[in-house]
Amino acid sequence: LEAVLRDLASVSLATRLRIEEGTQVPRSIIEFYYKNDALNDPMVSEEHITAFGWATPQEIDDIMALAIRVNDFLSGLFLGVGIRLVDFKMECGRLWEGEMMRIVVADEISPDSCRWWDIKSNDKLDKDRFRRDMGGLVEAYTEVARRLGIIGENERATHAGPKLVQ
Ligand code: TMP
Repeated sequence: LEAVLRDLASVSLATRLRIEEGTQVPRSIIEFYYKNDALNDPMVSEEHITAFGWATPQEIDDIMALAIRVNDFLSGLFLGVGIRLVDFKMECGRLWEGEMMRIVVADEISPDSCRWWDIKSNDKLDKDRFRRDMGGLVEAYTEVARRLGIIGENERATHAGPKLVQ
């Protein structure tokens, strides 16, 4: 399953519900998608998830609570550097400690799995630059890394691949 949390309507929600892209939704909306490339990752409801046994009602509650915590943390972090968090996709895992199981964030949270817009200009600073053939992908990712202090002011992005963070 993929969980998507939306605070603003991006192009997919805007198209589906015929609302203007960038409209703030009344409250954070969480959607679930069944991760299957052959089916084009269809949206599923909590009914599908529990009926097919992909997650229990308690696990769905935990995923939703976690998505809201992640949203609070990330939207604050990004607001501090002049970026609006529009939406993000999150994948979870079950982490067992003895008999105890917790739902945790698994997979990456990155510009590939989030939408980030510059607060002032609404410029897109995420993978939509690639998805919508807008160009400037490396520049946008570099700008985000610079604002977050991951790379220095005059440093250029390298393409050396990911490094293990401990
Ligand atoms: P969507 O508006 O296209 O449904 O995308 C919602 C969020 O999920 C957005 O931040 C981008 C992210 N996403 C992925 O990480 N992987 C995908 O395959 C898609 C379609 C979206």
